[in-house]
Amino acid sequence: MNPPGTHGSNPIGLLGLGIYLPERVMTNDEWAQYVDTSDEWIVARTGIRTRRIVGEEESTADLALAAAQAALADGAFEPADIDEIVLATDTPEVFIPDTAAYVQARLGVGHIPCYDLAGSGCAGFVLALDIARSRALADGRRVLVIGVELLTRLMDWEDRNTCVLFGDAAGAAVVGAGPGAVEIVAATAGTDGSKSDILGVEAGGTRLPITVERVQQGLHKHVVMQGRKVFREAVGRMSAASHEVLAKAGVSIDDVALVVPHQANLRILDAVTKRLGVIDERVFVNVQEYGNTGSASIPVALWEAREQGRIKPGDLVLLTAFGAGFHWAAVLLRF
Ligand code: UT7
Repeated sequence: MNPPGTHGSNPIGLLGLGIYLPERVMTNDEWAQYVDTSDEWIVARTGIRTRRIVGEEESTADLALAAAQAALADGAFEPADIDEIVLATDTPEVFIPDTAAYVQARLGVGHIPCYDLAGSGCAGFVLALDIARSRALADGRRVLVIGVELLTRLMDWEDRNTCVLFGDAAGAAVVGAGPGAVEIVAATAGTDGSKSDILGVEAGGTRLPITVERVQQGLHKHVVMQGRKVFREAVGRMSAASHEVLAKAGVSIDDVALVVPHQANLRILDAVTKRLGVIDERVFVNVQEYGNTGSASIPVALWEAREQGRIKPGDLVLLTAFGAGFHWAAVLLRF
């Protein structure tokens, strides 16, 4: 931990990055065995070709732990170096307590505070980066940020409107002050709660508690999604959040070496690319391989971009995300 409020010449940013992807790869043709769909339809409407599916023995804390350990190893940290955990997920280990508590115990970090950003949708990880940055700034903390999603376990495998879109994954970052940090230059976030019923899972909360009848109707795993509205909002909000964070940092989109957007759907990414006025080569895309992995999508994409040599020292990298809520968030990084 650094002394509160002092980080000297050390920028606050990412000090380590790690991911975990389940082994099982599921193709579109496999989905066609469960629902009335086709590889052609899924590729044309979403760009998705495969996604990872979690193993039967695995649950949310397993994936989160594996990504967290990878992030610690990446930054050469020991568990004792972590002061706080914030974990973003819509698919928790259990209803109560939060997944962060399970990860804390298994990671061996001691009795540090930890909490979930639950239901923050696909924007959760980027929002958590912003929170972690504030904690590092105000309190000198080194915060472990995790985005984890087992969306294929939440989905109704008989609802073709949603089941083919999603995948399972986890990503994590250590956020704090350090000489080698990937600096968080600026961050922004917002919410429009008036559109909260357009995307979500209604049953299971206090509004529609779980009953035998509701389970028989499949409501506990029914994802309400008005696809076209979500599409429009995603494009508008991710573009606007990008402009906002660039303005905060006093730079233009032309200064950005790589945009890493939430990987929802190839058509959404194409539309955001056009609105931002960047060429395709400056936008990282891996949705074809993993589908929409919710709050894990940005850390997985960022990790892959780094591994593939798409980011050089000094590069500005823009993260922009959107999800149920509706929530949105954007972060500008300097490598
Ligand atoms: O992180 C945010 C999460 N959500 C999203 O990113 C979703 C955003 N929305 C979208 O990506 C698109 O709206 C979808 C990919 C979900 C759908 O594409 P669309 O071009 O908006 O199609 P549509 O909803 O207008 O549906 C067209 C047709 C419908 O059939 P009818 O009513 O025209 O006969 C659907 O029933 O496509 C049908 N359809 C499918 N057909 C084959 C819906 N899902 C499937 C499917 N396979 N999997």
